[in-house]
Amino acid sequence: MTHRPQLTRLGLFDARVPRYTSYPTAPHFGTGIGEADFTGWIQDIPENSQISLYLHVPFCRRLCWFCACRTQGTTSDDPVIAYVQTLKAELALLKTHLPRGVSLSRLHWGGGTPTLLSASQIRDLAETIFTVAPLARNGEFSVEIDPNEVDDARLDALAASGMNRASIGVQDFDPLIQKTIGREQSYALTQDVAERIRARGIGSLNADILYGLPHQTGPRIADSVQKLLTLSPDRVALYGYAHVPWMSRRQQMIPSDTMPTPQERLSLFETARQLFLWDGYDEIGIDHFAKPTDGMAKAAKAGTLRRNFQGYTDDTSPVLIGLGASSISRFPQGFAQNVSATAAYTKAVRAGRFPTHRGHRFADEDTLRARIIEALMCDFRVSRAELLRDFDTTPDRVEALLRAAGETFGDMVTITPEAFIIPERAKPLTRMIARAFDAYDQTKALHSAAV
Ligand SMILES: C[S@@+](CC[C@H](N)C(=O)[O-])C[C@H]1O[C@@H](n2cnc3c(N)ncnc32)[C@H](O)[C@@H]1O
Ligand code: SF4
Repeated sequence: MTHRPQLTRLGLFDARVPRYTSYPTAPHFGTGIGEADFTGWIQDIPENSQISLYLHVPFCRRLCWFCACRTQGTTSDDPVIAYVQTLKAELALLKTHLPRGVSLSRLHWGGGTPTLLSASQIRDLAETIFTVAPLARNGEFSVEIDPNEVDDARLDALAASGMNRASIGVQDFDPLIQKTIGREQSYALTQDVAERIRARGIGSLNADILYGLPHQTGPRIADSVQKLLTLSPDRVALYGYAHVPWMSRRQQMIPSDTMPTPQERLSLFETARQLFLWDGYDEIGIDHFAKPTDGMAKAAKAGTLRRNFQGYTDDTSPVLIGLGASSISRFPQGFAQNVSATAAYTKAVRAGRFPTHRGHRFADEDTLRARIIEALMCDFRVSRAELLRDFDTTPDRVEALLRAAGETFGDMVTITPEAFIIPERAKPLTRMIARAFDAYDQTKALHSAAV
């Protein structure tokens, strides 16, 4: 492993480096994109094509201290009932503009906690969605499930509505860590929920687990990973815990002196990684593992892995529509984001308007740079031939872009006549190397003005 000062200089321990689930990243969206753009982009979707749909539920019954997601705690059902009505109104609006014959290759419900919806709300929402666009044959319907916030009635409703992939939040099983991060959830409960999901014939189980948590040590993460492996998840997201108390005030409940050092974070990741590899999982991108039979592992092998707002995906639809407060949609023309505040979102939709608030229209080299970044995040490799085939660019321009990034990272990257490659030893630097291609990021080390 490369020594620490070099990694530090290159930005490895800088928590502000984006995860590049989009390019440009959401902070660089502007207010120049509104309802008219969104409506036009929807109308431009080809008839009979497949798209992805994301539905956001920004509520939780519990507010875990570690969580950096924008979500609202509620013990009352009233705001949830009102929100479901607004989602249905947004779906009705979408239906009036969506071209004929469009079906869903992917439907994902995320949050917050979508499973705080009641069984009847789950059925009602799913039915409404499928009248707008049915799930395509081989389509996937996945839902984020908090094991603490689900019961048999809700699991029955999800299964009856066609959910075929469940994603459970685990984080870590260690009791001291759970107490410190404000999320208590026993192994027995998680195991029981996993079994109840499988008993309903739901073929695929994903789990989220974190490294870099307070009090986490090698033996503790090894124990958590081994417990998780007994549940035999098909896919695992092993996210680095982002400790950003200046943005996420709840994290101030977590004492800073319990956090592992940057060097310890690296070794926590490595410990967990080795356990997944020993157990036969394939490593996917920077932070996922999947059984070789899983669609994501197959996509990674075939070079068709993609990156979207939910992280890695094997979905290749060019359009992803995000519904709900703060959701982001992606079109071949650009990005459109719904207004974040639930009140403003509700007001717009109830007035019969799409709640588009900001976004970005692709211009200049956006799509070329986006593809380079996506390819690095997914495959650790960018092929010159692919760029020249798919984009309106020249060999000289591609050369200039790759060389400039190469100069910043020196022998940490390999440039050949065919490709720009991140070798195994530099994989921890992938997000920083991707940032070298980000023309909007002013903080990156690369002197992009010269490119
Ligand atoms: C929207 S949340 C999860 C869904 C569900 N509400 C639950 O708690 O199980 C999605 C995932 O984001 C990840 N996450 C949340 N806060 C994070 C943070 N500060 N750093 C890294 N990952 C985080 C967690 O792994 C979490 O499971
Ligand atoms: S981890 Fe899940 S349940 Fe906890 S606050 Fe975040 S979204 Fe809500």
